[in-house]
Amino acid sequence: MKEQLAQIRTQALAAFSSAGSPAALEELRVKYLGKKGELTAVLKQMGRLSAQERPAMGQLANEVRAALEDAIRATSEKLAQAALQQRLKEETLDVTIPGTPVRQGHRHPMYIALDEIKDIFVGMGFTVLDGPEVELASYNFDKLNADEGHPSRDWSDTFYFDSDSRVMLRSQTSPMQVRAMETLPLPIRIIAPGRVYRKDEVDATHSPMFHQVEGMVIDKNVTMADLKGTLNLLAEQLFGKGTVTRFRPHHFPFTEPSCEMDVQCHKCGGQGCPTCKGEGWIELLGAGMIHPNVLRMSGIDPEVWSGWAFGMGLERTAMRRFKIADLRLIFENDVRFLEQF
Ligand code: DAH
Repeated sequence: MKEQLAQIRTQALAAFSSAGSPAALEELRVKYLGKKGELTAVLKQMGRLSAQERPAMGQLANEVRAALEDAIRATSEKLAQAALQQRLKEETLDVTIPGTPVRQGHRHPMYIALDEIKDIFVGMGFTVLDGPEVELASYNFDKLNADEGHPSRDWSDTFYFDSDSRVMLRSQTSPMQVRAMETLPLPIRIIAPGRVYRKDEVDATHSPMFHQVEGMVIDKNVTMADLKGTLNLLAEQLFGKGTVTRFRPHHFPFTEPSCEMDVQCHKCGGQGCPTCKGEGWIELLGAGMIHPNVLRMSGIDPEVWSGWAFGMGLERTAMRRFKIADLRLIFENDVRFLEQF
């Protein structure tokens, strides 16, 4: 039996050390140490030994088993290490190779300008409102003091949804004045940017869809001086110190008095050029003191409260801000243009 054990030990250790894979090693483990394994078979014969022989043989058998188990563990670790080294070799990653470039997008120049406008007004305590582009004609016209005969209500100018001319694509952001007056507590300081729609042909300065930013202040003792001061500050912060503006008298149904604000042309500095159509000035916004009828229709007493409002063309403002010559560039979204900002 002693020789048998010694033989098993030599054979098994040799077999283990040449095992090429974890599966082969497991097979060998079963062959020697499994229930029907060779060592187990020898141990089963222990019963036949005499009482004197048994302890020494038992000890030897245990030593052999321990030796086999140690060898299996060691071989298993060696195989795992080898597998790891192999994987590391195969999966080598060269972090110094330049990656595939990812094209990054960025904000559209018009929205960069809008964010600047929002920052300027939020800094002065204004709230930014969002409102519907599909609007009731009563908000777009009636409650803004534009009566039935007003030319902009015409079908040739406005996109209506129904034959009664009651629902439309808003032609201006001014209906947001009414929505603000109807829902917000006084005093009110808001701006409301968004899309507006008119039946215009596309050219260098027109598009059937464009953007406006509406602004409105209602408080006690508000005057035209506040309007001019605020809008001049806007022009300076947006276009730079020393920006020259001018206010011209104008007519809007919802303001009295009304005006338009121009900024000096950035291309020619007021000399007159194709960008400003020879005028030297670029019209930026309409504004005025809110008409008492408009306040009254939205339930505000014009004897107590007064206010001013403006509506600014956002494309024009962005064109002036970034010195863009043609409105169409803003909508075409040619990346060669967009990448310049
Ligand atoms: N809604 C006018 C337009 O689209 C612009 C405007 C003028 C807005 C005067 C105002 C305002 O709030 O007070 O031409």
